Amino acid sequence: MVPMINPEEKIQRYYDNLWSVGKKFNQKFLDGGFHFGYYEKGVMNYRKAIQNMNKYISGLLGLGDGQAFDVLEAGCGIGATSRYLAKKYPECHFTGISLGMEEIELAKKIQNQQNLTNIQFLSGNYKNTGFQNNSFDRVFALESIVYAIKKEDVINEISRILKPHGKCVIIDGFFPKDQPSSSFLKNAYMLMLSKRSIPGVVSLQEMQSYLKSAGFTDIVIHDLSKHISKHYLFGGFFVSLRGLVSAEVRRLINKGKGKTNEDTDKIIGGAGFLEMLLGITKNLGYYTIVATKK
Ligand SMILES: C[S@@+](CC[C@H](N)C(=O)[O-])C[C@H]1O[C@@H](n2cnc3c(N)ncnc32)[C@H](O)[C@@H]1O
Repeated sequence: MVPMINPEEKIQRYYDNLWSVGKKFNQKFLDGGFHFGYYEKGVMNYRKAIQNMNKYISGLLGLGDGQAFDVLEAGCGIGATSRYLAKKYPECHFTGISLGMEEIELAKKIQNQQNLTNIQFLSGNYKNTGFQNNSFDRVFALESIVYAIKKEDVINEISRILKPHGKCVIIDGFFPKDQPSSSFLKNAYMLMLSKRSIPGVVSLQEMQSYLKSAGFTDIVIHDLSKHISKHYLFGGFFVSLRGLVSAEVRRLINKGKGKTNEDTDKIIGGAGFLEMLLGITKNLGYYTIVATKK
């Protein structure tokens, strides 16, 4: 009998394998993070776009004015966004948690190299963080909520650990309508997402109802889809092709030589195709959700 593997274990293994110690990584991920980025006028390449997303998040969090906020990044991965924010706002304290052990090791290693003392990185599950009630002024999650098996569990936990009037910022993929109009497309998305260990996507309506039930108010949604796809449709195609081809070339060159970063390339390949699907079909969108705890 094939042993059943719990979906969270699958995600953890996936990220442990992706960022495992000993691999060589492209500096742009270490500096910017592992997400789609935010394209706009003047920001036309991926390296700039991932940096620009961090800048965009910094604006949404409303840090600054000397306020010493406690900020949690839920699903921080290798911690690039938190490092960016920690440098920009030395008066604030940042905590990053993520499921993978290896990505957290890498996050800590870079933090030490950069002598950043206002961050802590911890391996943990965002649906059950172990932090005390009302611990944080801000919680943000960049492309991580989509990995939750039940998104409402994470929203309830974020609400518990946020202080009253604290803000939560979520950036991720959601269905704009309740269900995609075509089951063929829904299956295509799911196939693509499952390759990246993503268990499922919910609609914006569902997210709003989870947020309201968890005691959030002033829920504001922005559609960022065009900042990651539409205008960059053909760019997405070439990024895909390059990622997949370079993964294959590395695999052949490094056959038997140990670990390489071919997984990262494959995922970038997958991401490019996903961008194309997003842009063409508009059945799955990419959104920012900002909400305030009552
Ligand atoms: C696409 S990566 C994004 C990482 C980071 N936010 C960034 O932009 O570079 C998704 C992250 O979600 C994290 N994640 C998935 N499920 C999680 C869970 N249950 N608890 C904590 N983190 C989780 C993974 O470990 C992974 O680092």
